[in-house]
Amino acid sequence: MNTDNLFKPFSLKSLNIKNRIVMAPMTRSFSPNGVPTADVAAYYRKRAEGEAGLILSEGTVINRVSSSNDGNIPHFYGDAALAGWKNVIDGVHQAGGAMGPQIWHMGIMDNHHSGWLPAEPFEGPSGLNRPGSNNGKTMTESDIGDTIAAFGQAAADAKNLGFDCVEVHGAHGYLIDQFFWDGTNERTDIYGGKTLPERSLFALEVIKEVRKRVGEDFAVIIRLSQWKPADYTNQLATNPQELEAWLNPMADAGVDIFHCSQRRFWEPEFEGSDLNFAGWAKKITGKATITVGSVGLTGEFLAAFAGESSQPSSLDELMRRMDRGDFDLVGVGRPLLADPFWPKKIREDRTDELKGFTKAALGELVLD
Ligand SMILES: Cc1cc2nc3c(=O)[nH]c(=O)nc-3n(C[C@H](O)[C@H](O)[C@H](O)COP(=O)(O)O)c2cc1C
Repeated sequence: MNTDNLFKPFSLKSLNIKNRIVMAPMTRSFSPNGVPTADVAAYYRKRAEGEAGLILSEGTVINRVSSSNDGNIPHFYGDAALAGWKNVIDGVHQAGGAMGPQIWHMGIMDNHHSGWLPAEPFEGPSGLNRPGSNNGKTMTESDIGDTIAAFGQAAADAKNLGFDCVEVHGAHGYLIDQFFWDGTNERTDIYGGKTLPERSLFALEVIKEVRKRVGEDFAVIIRLSQWKPADYTNQLATNPQELEAWLNPMADAGVDIFHCSQRRFWEPEFEGSDLNFAGWAKKITGKATITVGSVGLTGEFLAAFAGESSQPSSLDELMRRMDRGDFDLVGVGRPLLADPFWPKKIREDRTDELKGFTKAALGELVLD
């Protein structure tokens, strides 16, 4: 298997990385009271030592009282948490890596199984976390304005701390995606509407604010998914024209890289072509894209949460698409969670040393 194109350097504005492997954002809940610890810093540094080109942090929440449903998810605000993140990025840079935080507002959530609750109710476009399920409050225009400002502040802090880029979490049924989806956005003001472009206003305002706060030369990524936990088969955009109407305004607003989340990267996005989500996003916007979803593993990640183990699998199909130019970068989640040295092993063709993924790896910060 020829993986040469996976190991070509990539540069875009502030982002200069040694290969095309991106550690996918993975929530770990190892940051008590929202503060990333020295263990968290060691965990990320190890992935840089293992040769991940770009590390995207676990989702880290912006400065809104109810942006999180779990007290152990890291904040991206406040002196203590930002000092923790400074420690993280310094360690990653010392090990020759690059990193961006994934800035996140979870929107309306189910209550966490631990019983932890934010000091104010969850907030979202219409109080819904899935159709018919209300577990929070409908945001006012002033809540929306403050939330946009908080995303902008987090992006500015990412740049000030020395991160190489920032990723806005717009996927997987969280706040920004709750605005995109008509199943959770029933607003009748300018942030709602019958069409996806209308329901994209909140995302566009977030992106514009982020761009304004970081300047033109700092790389901005947005993560998007068609699927949601409440509906795996959902398609926000059901054909290339709708995808164009969704993505191009985001590109114009300041997105440099579209991170296109799928559960299985090889699944075609629309009938009549084998292009996947990242393939279509690149073709339509001309922007760089990241593909992700079951790269190098036999099983997908939601089944992994339910306890299913995965074995290492061939990269042939990934490389076929990459060599064809479908996408620029490749997101790798569980393989890097279980094995910091996954990229180095692939580069050195040590495939017999690759580890599979078991649910046990979710419960620790694996260091070797
Ligand atoms: C433990 C775990 C936590 C995750 N947390 C996040 C997250 O915070 N933000 C996000 O966008 N995706 C998150 N994901 C999804 C991953 O980024 C990735 O898209 C998914 O695992 C598929 O990639 P994989 O098949 O290589 O694991 C998480 C996945 C796992 C396994």
